[in-house]
Amino acid sequence: MASKTYRICSLPGDGIGPEIIAEGKKVLAAVGAKADVEFVFEDHLIGGAAIDACGNPLPQETLDAALSSDAVLLASVGGPKWDSTDPNAPRPEQGLLGIRKALGLYTNLRPVKIYDALAGASTLRPEVIKGVDMVLVRELTGGLYFGRRERFYDEEGAGANGAPGQRAYDTLEYREYEVERIARQAFEAARKRKNKVTSVDKRNVLETSRMWREVVHRVHDEEYADVELEDLLVDNTAMQLINRPADFDVVVTENMFGDILSDEAAQITGSLGMLASASLGDGVSLFEPSAGSAPDIAGQGIANPLAQILSAGMLLTYALDMVEEAGRIEDAVERVLNDGWRTRDIADASTPADHILGTAEMGDKVVEALA
Ligand code: IPM
Ligand code: MG
Repeated sequence: MASKTYRICSLPGDGIGPEIIAEGKKVLAAVGAKADVEFVFEDHLIGGAAIDACGNPLPQETLDAALSSDAVLLASVGGPKWDSTDPNAPRPEQGLLGIRKALGLYTNLRPVKIYDALAGASTLRPEVIKGVDMVLVRELTGGLYFGRRERFYDEEGAGANGAPGQRAYDTLEYREYEVERIARQAFEAARKRKNKVTSVDKRNVLETSRMWREVVHRVHDEEYADVELEDLLVDNTAMQLINRPADFDVVVTENMFGDILSDEAAQITGSLGMLASASLGDGVSLFEPSAGSAPDIAGQGIANPLAQILSAGMLLTYALDMVEEAGRIEDAVERVLNDGWRTRDIADASTPADHILGTAEMGDKVVEALA
């Protein structure tokens, strides 16, 4: 009997989800065994898989299981199978957005770091990406993704020809306390790193952004004056992330900007398959790769499980305070990469064919490297 047991709610979801989450569990089990900790995994449905089983992308049973667990490990949701022209049809992504909201996970941390061994996988020049080590702090439960939206037909949608045409809107709303609490998360993160925050907005156009900037500065001046703070417009940020990625430390922004910029930041590293994330609130937290469900390669056993494995590492740090064990996972991943092992997505022309691994083989390599 292990001296400690943690209950992990496991949500494989869709596409490559079931394949990569198996590797995350494998690595957690191995780390746990060494630390005299047992992880009990309970699988539950979310996303398209849940729609298929019961018509609901976030079944109540899944939510209850998540709420009563010590942490949630999620893989990915979505796929063309659930694309529908019916705007009222359930969508897999509603499962993900729904669980973020229900668990109150307003902070999403997405670390972006260059592994020396993978410097060649980036599309940017080595001298540009040298030293890149940032964390994106994305607001996760507000803004456009949760605002009121509607699609309808009326005269205005028609234009000149007169017959009713379609109209649609989404609303972007933030409340002051939502900006305040995410700003605090960013400043706290910066204090543990290089003490610099870049706050991203679109103040020259959006009212929410003008409030965002004002609130971020107030929180800074009142509570975090020791942290360096810079403001950057989102379009300029998109450019500077490519131009001078190593200058960033903590980047804080609202939900949609963060969604877009985190994919861009991931590409700096060369593979979205390397990017882990932690979604935190005031209760149970959730850990998932930042990549999607990659339906095009699902079921082939070739997906990169490293983002999932690194997300399991973040779970140890943020949910269970097992910082040392999390470090062992990170070191193991780095060692595997340094030894030249690759999944297809991070291989390049110089990778020998026998060093290109499948999903489960990569998980095994990481477990080996833990030893
Ligand atoms: C992400 C994803 C999700 C998001 C989708 C799948 C709803 O793109 O985690 O970045 O937009 O948040
Ligand atoms: Mg995204």
